[in-house]
Amino acid sequence: MDLAARAFKATINRSAIRRPVEEEIERTLSRARRLNRLNNVTGAILLFPEHIVKWIEGEPAGIADTFECASRDERVKEIQVLGDGAISRRLFQASWMFYRDCRTDVPPGIPDFLRRETDEGVKPEFSVLLETMQRVAAGLDGAYITRAALMI
Ligand SMILES: Cc1cc2nc3c(=O)[nH]c(=O)nc-3n(C[C@H](O)[C@H](O)[C@H](O)COP(=O)(O)O)c2cc1C
Repeated sequence: MDLAARAFKATINRSAIRRPVEEEIERTLSRARRLNRLNNVTGAILLFPEHIVKWIEGEPAGIADTFECASRDERVKEIQVLGDGAISRRLFQASWMFYRDCRTDVPPGIPDFLRRETDEGVKPEFSVLLETMQRVAAGLDGAYITRAALMI
């Protein structure tokens, strides 16, 4: 089975956020995880103050569906694909969407082009994106077994 991954970032469209932020995050994560289960897509979302970075992995058709679904959501705008590539194994195999809150503390090893909201034209090598997300995956907290059981 061909496994692929896509990394992208998007600006948060605050005018389309209608609920308290924490409630919106919980709701978005649970909905995304349900949809990703159907598409057999795993991955991670990094939440920064004004933007998000997403890594989605799975079969190419599932990736395409998931990206299209997220791109249509009015709560995000200025979506920028950072890179696409083939992967030999899933980095977040136990997570329909692993969530990392980077609004106040950013895990070590996150490059500037991911921390910054916009970065016109910066197209990192896919290998750099892969290494970065491997570091995020490696940093999954000690509650990994619980996460794996809950697939979150
Ligand atoms: C920050 C964010 C992340 C999202 N991630 C995913 C995702 O991983 N998979 C997916 O299928 N859709 C994703 N979406 C799209 C929503 O799941 C989709 O628009 C859904 O229909 C929203 O339903 P709701 O308005 O009832 O929450 C995302 C949307 C936002 C805003």
